[in-house]
Amino acid sequence: MKKFKFKNGDTIDAIGLGTWKSDPGEVGKAVKAALDVGYRHIDCAAVYGNEAEVGEALQESFSKGELNREDVWVTSKLWNTEHKREDVIPALKQTLKDLKLDELDLYLIHWPLAFRPGLQGIPEKDEDFLSPEEAPLSETWHAMAEAKKEGLVRHIGVSNFSINKLEKLINETGEVPEMNQVELHPYLQQNDLLSYCKEKHIFITAYSPLGSMDRPDSIKAENEPSLLENEIITGIAVKHNATPAQILIKWAVERDTIVIPKSTNPGRIEENINSMNISLDEDDHAQIKQMDRHYRYLNGKMFETESPMYQNIFDD
Ligand code: A2P
Repeated sequence: MKKFKFKNGDTIDAIGLGTWKSDPGEVGKAVKAALDVGYRHIDCAAVYGNEAEVGEALQESFSKGELNREDVWVTSKLWNTEHKREDVIPALKQTLKDLKLDELDLYLIHWPLAFRPGLQGIPEKDEDFLSPEEAPLSETWHAMAEAKKEGLVRHIGVSNFSINKLEKLINETGEVPEMNQVELHPYLQQNDLLSYCKEKHIFITAYSPLGSMDRPDSIKAENEPSLLENEIITGIAVKHNATPAQILIKWAVERDTIVIPKSTNPGRIEENINSMNISLDEDDHAQIKQMDRHYRYLNGKMFETESPMYQNIFDD
């Protein structure tokens, strides 16, 4: 398995198991199936509503002596209602409790957006947000740094941050996040963000690498393009005697990004990690390069209100 090394020597596996949209009742089995076939990286978030079950699966593996805590990389994310400086560590402690861990490997600010504490669901009006003055991202970041100092988490980073937002955070805090987790796949190749992050030594994790077709209809557009059925991808898959999902995953890894395909199906969980055995050639990469069309499956519109302050979250 390809790994990426952090400054302190810690390493993260290039392929992790995504758990967004993995239902309670299924996610624990998925984590166990993943650990069985060699996954050592699980991507979680408080808002996925399934961390307690992920924690049980991890705990079972540790208590049976199958794996040690340090064998598995666990990421989680701070939800948007917990951005106030005083709310960050309590939110992290709840996640640790749910995951039954003393320390996370990586904690990310899930979105560069602060919601009113206690808000259930997504914002419907401006008052459902805390303005950037009420909850500046730099303050949230300071609390993330405190959590790291306290030994609750080994690495800290962000998610869904544009170059502008990274730049602002770095300028305001003098610190560079270690990770930015963003939507990334052949229709959204994110070349500028990749170059920027490489220059700043920020790792990138690619989410929705397969197009996240199991999203709820409320956050799906009409006539969305399919990645798994794209002719270039299916053609390359036939050539390598592989599946389209494997091509998409290996493409991400060969671009030096970390990738977190979600599945709760044991066969597909194994199929996805086996993409490590494929090697794409120059022609494959050249063909996939042509697929870039700046298409976001998760366009952030679900968080928008009438106010321009809460629009165009990705600055594009
Ligand atoms: P399932 O969980 O039933 O396997 P993403 O990682 O982009 O969010 O995509 C997740 C979606 O892709 C889920 O619907 C998941 O379904 C499906 N999926 C995961 N792995 C594969 C695969 N190898 N082939 C086809 N679909 C897959």
